[in-house]
Amino acid sequence: MKAKPTILKLGGSAITHKEKPFVANFFVIENLAREIAEANVSPLVLVHGGGSFGHPLAKQYAINEGLKNSSQIIGFSRTHDAMNVLNRLVVQALIEHNIPAVGVAPSSFVLTKQGRIEKMDLDVVAKLLETSFVPVLYGDAVLDLDKGFAILSGDQLIAKLAINLGAERIIVGVDVDGLYTADPKQDSSAQLISRLSFRELQRTLSWAEKAKATDVTGGMYGKILELIPAIEHGVRTVIVNATKRDTVRKALRNEKFVGTIIEKE
Ligand code: IPE
Repeated sequence: MKAKPTILKLGGSAITHKEKPFVANFFVIENLAREIAEANVSPLVLVHGGGSFGHPLAKQYAINEGLKNSSQIIGFSRTHDAMNVLNRLVVQALIEHNIPAVGVAPSSFVLTKQGRIEKMDLDVVAKLLETSFVPVLYGDAVLDLDKGFAILSGDQLIAKLAINLGAERIIVGVDVDGLYTADPKQDSSAQLISRLSFRELQRTLSWAEKAKATDVTGGMYGKILELIPAIEHGVRTVIVNATKRDTVRKALRNEKFVGTIIEKE
C-alpha cells in the first residue's frame, strides 16, 4: 500500500439520536459525508459505532455476556441487523457524495476470545484500500471462541486496525469536543485538553473512569482504554466533535481544529 491509511471513527453518539432507539441523525451523517468528500483523504478506513441502533439491543439480550441462554440467539441476529441497517445509511450517504464506500461487517472477518480480538483476516479490507475503496466497518455483534458471542466495539476495532494496517493516525469523532481535565457535565471548571502525552493520559483516565456511561462498551473511559495500544504503537490519535460543522474536515486535512491530540511522547 502506498500511503499510510487514516482511520476515522464516527461515534454512535454523533450519528444517532442517543435517547431514541433506531433513530439515525441524518443531519450529522449527511454533513459528515460531505466533509469527508471535501477532505478527500486516501487511503481512508471508516468505522462507525452503534449508538441507539446497537446498544439497546445488545443490552436487552446481554450479548456481551456471551451465549448463556438460547433466547439470546435471536438477539444476536437483531443486534447485527440493526448495525447493518445503520451501516447502509452511512454507506448510502457517502456514495451520494461520490465516495466509493463499501460496507464490511466485522462479524464476517473477526473472531474474539473473551471479547478481545483473537483472529482478524484483513486481506479483504487491505485489498479494498489498495483498489481505492473506502471500507466502512462498524462495532458489531461477533462470534467469540470462548463465550459464543460478544460485542466488538468500534474502538477496539480501530486500535487493532491502526496497528495491523500501519495507519498514520486515528480520528475519533464523538459528541463532545474532546478530553477534559474533569467531567464537563459535573464540573464547570473542566477545561478542554488540546494535546496530551501518553503519560498525561494515564492521569486523565482517573476521572474518566468515574464518568463511565451506561452503554455496553464503557463510554469515554472504555473508548480511551481501547485506544491505548494504538497510541503506544505511535499512532497519532485525535478526539473531535463530529457533530460540530467543519471539525472532522479540518482534522482530516490537518488544519487547526478544536479537539484533543494524544501522542506517544
Ligand atoms: C457498539 O460499537 C456496537 C454495538 C453495540 C453492536 P461502539 O461501542 O463503537 O459504539 P458507540 O460509538 O460507542 O456508539
